Amino acid sequence: MCGILGYTGDHQASEILLSGLAKLEYRGYDSAGIAILDGDKIKVEKNKGRLQALEEKIKDRDVAGTCGIGHTRWATHGAPSDLNAHPIWSDDMTVVAVHNGIVENYRELKEKLSGHGYKFYSQTDTEAAVKLIDYYYKQEKDPMKALISAIKEIEGSYCFVVLFQDHPGEVWGVRKDLPLIAGQGEGESFLASDVSAILQYTKQVYYLDNMEIVQLNKGVVRFFDMDGYAKPKELSEVTWDAQAAEKGGFEHFMMKEIHEQARAVKDTFGAVYHSGAINLNEIGLTDDIIKSTSQIYIIACGSAYHVGAVAQYVIEDLAHIPVRIELASEFRYRNMPTDKNALAIIISQSGETADSLAAMRKAHEHGIKTLGIVNVVGSTIAREADSVFYTMAGPEISVATTKAYSAQLIACYVIAMQFAKVLGTIDDEKYESMLTEIQKLPEKIDAILDESGVLKRVAARFVNAKNAFYLGRNIDYAVAMEGSLKMKEISYLHSEAIAAGEMKHGPISLIEKGMLVAGIMTQSNLYQKIASNMLEAKSRGGYIFIVSTRGCEALKDEADFIFHIPETDEHFAASLAVIPLQLMGYYVAVARKLDVDKPRNLAKSVTVE
Ligand code: M6R
Repeated sequence: MCGILGYTGDHQASEILLSGLAKLEYRGYDSAGIAILDGDKIKVEKNKGRLQALEEKIKDRDVAGTCGIGHTRWATHGAPSDLNAHPIWSDDMTVVAVHNGIVENYRELKEKLSGHGYKFYSQTDTEAAVKLIDYYYKQEKDPMKALISAIKEIEGSYCFVVLFQDHPGEVWGVRKDLPLIAGQGEGESFLASDVSAILQYTKQVYYLDNMEIVQLNKGVVRFFDMDGYAKPKELSEVTWDAQAAEKGGFEHFMMKEIHEQARAVKDTFGAVYHSGAINLNEIGLTDDIIKSTSQIYIIACGSAYHVGAVAQYVIEDLAHIPVRIELASEFRYRNMPTDKNALAIIISQSGETADSLAAMRKAHEHGIKTLGIVNVVGSTIAREADSVFYTMAGPEISVATTKAYSAQLIACYVIAMQFAKVLGTIDDEKYESMLTEIQKLPEKIDAILDESGVLKRVAARFVNAKNAFYLGRNIDYAVAMEGSLKMKEISYLHSEAIAAGEMKHGPISLIEKGMLVAGIMTQSNLYQKIASNMLEAKSRGGYIFIVSTRGCEALKDEADFIFHIPETDEHFAASLAVIPLQLMGYYVAVARKLDVDKPRNLAKSVTVE
């Protein structure tokens, strides 16, 4: 979704804004723009398309100035166009702003402002908000008061970063339910949608709360509440380094992140494993809480939901406690009887996904305890959850998640093991063997990557394919869902994950000659079942692509291709089986010459419904 940036300091703002916006490109966008407050005038440059087009356009223009705001827009209201691109200005161009999110009551605001003589030049919802801020500014002559009055009227979720022509050197901001952080450097300060945009300048950041006003001056950041009173706030140090958000020699971030999975898995486990034992007290899962938990809801979207699907099988099998997995977008609108002794686990890489956040708030309304499994430190879900388990994936830039998915799996395994241990549903021997095995996953992931070159050749067969199926049962079905999503989101090859037992109930009619039918086989009690399903697909012309555990003999003569993964405890098999599937999606996308890291229509963090 949109990326936002604000800067004031001694450097040329346009340079800082363009380089910072480039770091936010991964969020997804279709137009870009900057506004520079130079002395007492504001200059705006913006256009439809990529940042490079903007850079090209402003090469010969006057964008000098050391204070400014920038934006990458992902269109919601109004098609991508030069005019709809942000920044958006007031009628006299004295108030100029960038905006993420949605102004839900923009029609009413427009009507009101039209009554006061305002004209509208774009189709955006943002313009109504900018002109409302301008309307109050003209009355109050004070940016803070204008922002407070305006946001009391604006409905929706948003983050605004604003320049006022009469306030040179100042940048103002406010957020509600969308991320905004402030960075403080030596003689300069920043506002940004996320830390990756400013990491190269500072690691000292403030996390804004909802409905909190922020004012930037050179090297000084101030906060105010909705009554206009100054608010003290704690500065945090970001531990990610700037290198982590660079490609580091790989052609794409996705490939780099695939190769960072062993490290992400190791670090995530290491975060809760101290002196030879797992300790979940720090993440709020004391033995007493575990014992009093009667039911677990796992709530998430997209790949994070697929992690939940794996976790459901693992937790139920190990800890014998009922687990429901819920798509956040469904959970938030469903009326269902809930259990006060339940634990809701919200899984989210970004910690900002609108549906996951809303679902978590709904769980709170029902009096259910929440635990966030979150990657981005200081994100909204991390801050609002009753407790948080931070995954240690580091910044994930590619829209298609890989290392965050793998890190989330580890968090879920650890929770499953701990529930099982405390509830006495596994014995010490099993627990110890799982502890040993989970620590071997990083080296096994790397071993798979070492042998994965062959997948590039297999993927080349599917460069013109139209459809694919991914089949599995139990944990393998959960992995199939993720493998299928990886394929469709970056290669645009239509793909479906199907619980293999469902094939005969409809989907089998779609199989055509040469169609990719991937089968995941890591659960030994189900080898023969899935093998039968795959043979049925083969006899209808499907290309049989198998990911199975070394030692599984099924289909060794019938499959068109088999990729073996190392043996592991079968509860952890998803961590290994997913790797070749991520690579298949990647290689097909590369063979199709697609923008792997920024697939069309998608955004890294989905902050609107
Ligand atoms: O930031 P989140 O983990 O909450 O994001 C959830 C989904 O949007 C995300 O996993 C999405 O499905 C991925 N891009 C898939 O690769």
